[in-house]
Amino acid sequence: MPITDRDRQSLYPALANKIYGNYGGQGPMSQPTLDAITNAYQEVQTLGPFGRSVNGWIEREVLALRQAIAQELHAEPSAIALTENVTDGCNIALWGLPWEKGDRILISDSEHPGVVAIIQELGQRFGVEVDIYPIQNLATDEEAVDPIAAGLTPRTKLVVLSHIAWNTGAVFPLKEIVDHCHRNGKLVLADAAQTVGMLPLNLPETGVDFYAFTGHKWLCGPAGVGGLYVSPDIKLRPTFIGWRSITFTATGSPAGYEATAKQYEVATSAYPLYVGLRTAIEQHRTWGTAEDRYHRICTLSVRTWEQLQEISGVHCLHPTPPTSGLISFQVGDRSDNSTNSPGTARKRHQHIADTLEQEHGILTRTLLNPSCIRICWHYLSTETDSDKFIDALRTLL
Ligand SMILES: Cc1ncc(COP(=O)(O)O)c(C=O)c1O
Repeated sequence: MPITDRDRQSLYPALANKIYGNYGGQGPMSQPTLDAITNAYQEVQTLGPFGRSVNGWIEREVLALRQAIAQELHAEPSAIALTENVTDGCNIALWGLPWEKGDRILISDSEHPGVVAIIQELGQRFGVEVDIYPIQNLATDEEAVDPIAAGLTPRTKLVVLSHIAWNTGAVFPLKEIVDHCHRNGKLVLADAAQTVGMLPLNLPETGVDFYAFTGHKWLCGPAGVGGLYVSPDIKLRPTFIGWRSITFTATGSPAGYEATAKQYEVATSAYPLYVGLRTAIEQHRTWGTAEDRYHRICTLSVRTWEQLQEISGVHCLHPTPPTSGLISFQVGDRSDNSTNSPGTARKRHQHIADTLEQEHGILTRTLLNPSCIRICWHYLSTETDSDKFIDALRTLL
């Protein structure tokens, strides 16, 4: 379904005054989502803020959000824990496994620094060793199975993989990777920061053990609400514990943990934001089927990627036409983009991103590993956005 500028401008205030290319960082909220959050805060004050009626309201809203997310992932609501963000979900999975000294974690060379930092701390605390498999420079995304297979050792307990790489935009074959890891007795944690809201997903079909995601990127929900899918086959101990994680005795003492993924939820949250994410998901569904939305994202990305191929001195990180909404590229000499003088490339990329924003109203971001500029297209983006971006970039080279 073609999206007109009028649709976008009336529905998404953030899109009215700029060309927005940072969906991989945070998606814009629609006016109905913003209104739903404000109304929900008002409702909480009218009913409570603390009391029997408002507690009933909270219970209904928590259930409604869990169901809406589960539907997006084709998963059971009981497999979804509500969290604050992607990193929260990764922490729950990573700290919840029974680590022993000498166990190993296999991670890619393209993981987010926040997730790498958790794994480094596991190493410090439990003597867990970290192995790194290279996937930044594959000729095709499907080839990711080979370096993972090569990186597994008898002591590897967990493989960590971004389902879509935040740097290159590569979409990895999750099911094949999980199948290979499971055949070898290894668990898989997928960092799903860039997939939920972008890819059509069926998590039980992939077999993935843990899938950590957020509502504030491709789903265009509020910052502060995310989730963790935990496969029903997995036993993971809760690490952050509170009244939402437990069941109670008749006298109100802790009796045990909730049987579902609710055991990974902790305590009081900003529940009006849950209404915001549920509204954003409802809005998301009005833009076509998951396949339609993904097709539109890929069409726009391929258009931009092809236009970038025509510009001399520009090098796209993804070697083939993209199959995600993330397009990353380097500008200038290939040698100083790699080893010779990364500082020079970094400054050049930052200067271009800053100028695109300040002089052309085009929001992109730079990344450091490898140094590049990243622009993201959503199904809310248009061909005009892509063309204006390419025209602006040409004036800066
Ligand atoms: C791959 C990846 N992982 C993790 C994060 C961190 O996300 P959050 O702030 O929701 O924890 C990001 C954010 O850009 C990301 O791209």
